Amino acid sequence: MSMEGFSKVFEMYEAFRELSLSRHSIREFRDTKVPQDMVDKILELAATAPYASGKKNWDIKVIDDTQTIQAIADSIEAYTTALAPKIREDFREGFIEYSQSFIAFKDAPLLLIPTFKVNYSLSLMVEDEAIKAWERDNYVKSIATLSMIIHQGAHALGLGSCYMTGAVIAQEQIKKIIKIKPRHDIAAIIPIGFKKER
Ligand SMILES: Cc1cc2nc3c(=O)[nH]c(=O)nc-3n(C[C@H](O)[C@H](O)[C@H](O)COP(=O)(O)O)c2cc1C
Repeated sequence: MSMEGFSKVFEMYEAFRELSLSRHSIREFRDTKVPQDMVDKILELAATAPYASGKKNWDIKVIDDTQTIQAIADSIEAYTTALAPKIREDFREGFIEYSQSFIAFKDAPLLLIPTFKVNYSLSLMVEDEAIKAWERDNYVKSIATLSMIIHQGAHALGLGSCYMTGAVIAQEQIKKIIKIKPRHDIAAIIPIGFKKER
């Protein structure tokens, strides 16, 4: 590699290192809208993510309407409140406290909601629950790769974000509030916004 090439690689590594070391999950946001060009930039980066089984079976639902965001949070809270009495008594208090992290996106100005569709193929040819689970997992894992790019991209643009899968416990309730593509499942909720300074 030429000196010029080496120095370019080193620069890229240093920039990426700084980005990675300084990223943290952000759950408290300023009441400021995320500009559309930043949303577009993040989505452009997300589209570069690797994907399983030769199929880009994912989509990203963009929600920037605060009433809808609140309605999603309320539906999750209603779900966990109804679930709490069914939880073993000695774990109940802990669950109620923990479940607050499922709605830690509620004050965000923007949610990116990655969804995925499972295309069963091998498991249609052999009856095996483990293979079926493996096939589904592959599509879920694809979402993890694109989500990490979203976090790094948002952070590079001076935005904060957090990967949240707790909310997915109330998947069916959320689906009643937002329209997602047919046969898609929700993989996570990713709140994004400018970090609230303490
Ligand atoms: C699969 C996964 C699910 C997560 N779900 C939630 C969640 O539901 N609520 C939440 O507040 N944080 C959630 N997080 C964020 C983690 O709490 C956070 O990444 C972890 O504490 C490390 O902190 P850092 O991201 O600041 O390095 C999740 C992270 C991962 C990887």
